[in-house]
Amino acid sequence: MPEYLESLGIRFFELTKHTRKELFERKREAISPSTPFKEYQGAKVVELPEPLLSKEDIWNCLSKRRSVRKYKERPITPLELSGLLWASQGITARLSHYLLRTAPSAGALYPIETYLLVNSCDGIESGIYHYHVVFGHLEEIKTGPFGKELGEASLGQPMCWQAPVVFIFSAVFRRTMSKYGSRGMRYVFLDCGHICQNLLLAATALGLGGCPIGAFLDDEVNVLLGLDGVEESVIYMASIGEPK
Ligand SMILES: Cc1cc2nc3c(=O)[nH]c(=O)nc-3n(C[C@H](O)[C@H](O)[C@H](O)COP(=O)(O)O)c2cc1C
Repeated sequence: MPEYLESLGIRFFELTKHTRKELFERKREAISPSTPFKEYQGAKVVELPEPLLSKEDIWNCLSKRRSVRKYKERPITPLELSGLLWASQGITARLSHYLLRTAPSAGALYPIETYLLVNSCDGIESGIYHYHVVFGHLEEIKTGPFGKELGEASLGQPMCWQAPVVFIFSAVFRRTMSKYGSRGMRYVFLDCGHICQNLLLAATALGLGGCPIGAFLDDEVNVLLGLDGVEESVIYMASIGEPK
């Protein structure tokens, strides 16, 4: 029992519980905010078609979704990518300066950024891209076959090079922590879970399948994406393709 109580996980959970005292005293770390979304100025832009929204029934998608780890060799299409990105992070409404999205976010602060590792997509070069959430296009970070590298950083999981695309979700922790202090760290991961489930259900609706990936060497994936691992770090991934 003591090893459980003294574990980092339980200490973090205990220390980030809301208490009446803390809420009343309003004692919270002063953490300065960050920009609300990221853009790679000067990056080559890859335009995507308007997403074609599937009419597939949500209840069917819920009952059909399964983690899929083996994919047909067929490349993903830009239209499929566009639909999947929209389902994950698409902007659906505006409320004063908040750009509300398909997935909920604590305080509407949207700490999650989406990157794609493209192994094979019609008309898009293999490489790593960032999704510009406001313009709905991709920004090229680097081109080349990086699937094997991502696979090595993910403890040898073959989906990373066999799937036509891997979604990589990073967190800009400061966005949420500037409002909620260290408790915000909990919310960041909850936000990301919502986004990934949207992605997996949308994939199911399009006749595709995906597998969430939590087992990876954080800093090796961060280096691949050019992230510092502190201000922004990879926290979750999902491979997507047509089930074999
Ligand atoms: C947080 C999280 C991390 C996961 N990481 C991996 C992973 O690294 N590799 C993998 O093959 N599956 C991973 N999975 C998928 C689970 O193994 C899978 O969801 C579970 O076996 C239930 O099967 P189902 O998704 O088909 O319902 C992960 C799932 C979650 C929710």
